Amino acid sequence: MPKPSSCFICQSCGSVHTKWAGRCDSCGEWNTLFEEATTQHTRPKSKNKRNIDFVSLNGESVDVPRLKSGISELDRVTGGGLVPGSAILVGGDPGIGKSTLLLQAAGKTAQSGFKTAYISGEESVDQVRRRAKRLGFKNASVSLASETSLGPILDGLMIEKPDIIIIDSIQTLWTDQISAAPGTVTQVRACAQELTRFAKKRGACVILVGHVTKDGQIAGPRVVEHMVDAVLYFEGDRAHQFRILRAHKNRFGPTDEIGVFEMRENGLSEVANPSALFLDGRGAASTGTSIFAGLEGTRPVLTEIQALVAPAAFGTPRRAVVGWDNGRLAMVLAVLEARCGVSFANKDVYLNVAGGLRINEPAADLAVAAAIASSAFDVPLPKDSVVFGEISLSGDVRPVGRTEARLKEASKLGFQTAITSNIPKKLEKNLTSIMPIVTIKALPDLISRVEISAERGLEDDSAWGMGIKAA
Ligand code: TYD
Ligand code: MG
Repeated sequence: MPKPSSCFICQSCGSVHTKWAGRCDSCGEWNTLFEEATTQHTRPKSKNKRNIDFVSLNGESVDVPRLKSGISELDRVTGGGLVPGSAILVGGDPGIGKSTLLLQAAGKTAQSGFKTAYISGEESVDQVRRRAKRLGFKNASVSLASETSLGPILDGLMIEKPDIIIIDSIQTLWTDQISAAPGTVTQVRACAQELTRFAKKRGACVILVGHVTKDGQIAGPRVVEHMVDAVLYFEGDRAHQFRILRAHKNRFGPTDEIGVFEMRENGLSEVANPSALFLDGRGAASTGTSIFAGLEGTRPVLTEIQALVAPAAFGTPRRAVVGWDNGRLAMVLAVLEARCGVSFANKDVYLNVAGGLRINEPAADLAVAAAIASSAFDVPLPKDSVVFGEISLSGDVRPVGRTEARLKEASKLGFQTAITSNIPKKLEKNLTSIMPIVTIKALPDLISRVEISAERGLEDDSAWGMGIKAA
């Protein structure tokens, strides 16, 4: 029986089917299967067969060279700079600032002497020029083109031979090798594959821009994520001016680093000290707030956590969370109820991470519990204190990593005390020399301190003791 020469690809999830169907078996979407010619990998029958050579792990290896983009927040996220011969996908909601970021990167790299090409499939040359002028890169020697057809783009790149190639966006490209419409999975995948291959072959770094759908996936082709070496997401709340570049996948570096930018009228500016930005506009200590000393990648970042516990009007009480995990809040509330006897049965609980940052660290548990307790008992936490620690279901507070970095950052920003788990004896001297530490072994300990300070009144911090101080 001859092998089928075509297959059907779902435009929604990218799964491959041998037969056409009205509905995709994998994702359940209707009318998403489109025909595509298969490339057959048959082994040519030749006399001089070639085998692969196996080598051992401990051979000579060269360090990957890096092209510094000149935007240090971008270099941080990519793990130290762009890697020649690699492909990067930058995803994000429309209007979040992807084109702005990459045009700035193009300008900066061109200024530092790299050959950079910026190919826009969405904007005309005029539009890009106007933007470049606004960003202050009017005279940067970037090779600019506005084109959507892959063939001419590759031919042009072959002649131009840039070190860095920026394609904005992959969804607008199409190749005449395939009959599917531009923007379909088939087209996007084929174009991404061609460009990645080009990058590998020519030693250039290709940066692809991809739009993200409402549910947070790069529109259509999850497959593109597998093809490229790094996937970066550009995220942020449009209501806030700051943007975060987060590594989602990275073959050349860690994936937990973030780059922080601020959107201004003349483009994105780097934020070297995110804590100052997130704490900006914070007033005197008020009830229901705590300052969480967190970590984003290797960098300590301080954020304000706000909680509001209010009587529920009727029916099921509400729990609303912005910037943290819903399930995690439910867990903290359950532990507060079960281990500390604080009831939230007829209370609404609202939780907000100020500034629009999203926190994923379990170390925020204690800061959340402290903010909730402070709101529930209507008393502020001690002035100028930071809180961190992981809460276990038993109510114990567990130590978290890199305490020293957290304390140092807090101290740098003028905080006086830290409220956290027990610290090991051998670290005590070192850590308490940074700032006094109030140790909380278990959650009931925190609640009783909040309760006592509520009784003693606003000006009295004595319930918190003075913390352990350096000898
Ligand atoms: P853009 O880079 O076009 O977003 P994307 O490519 O992700 O769709 O950014 C668009 C937004 O950025 C737009 O709403 C205006 C804002 N912006 C500024 O605030 N300042 C600037 O200097 C620029 C260029 C854009
Ligand atoms: Mg754009």
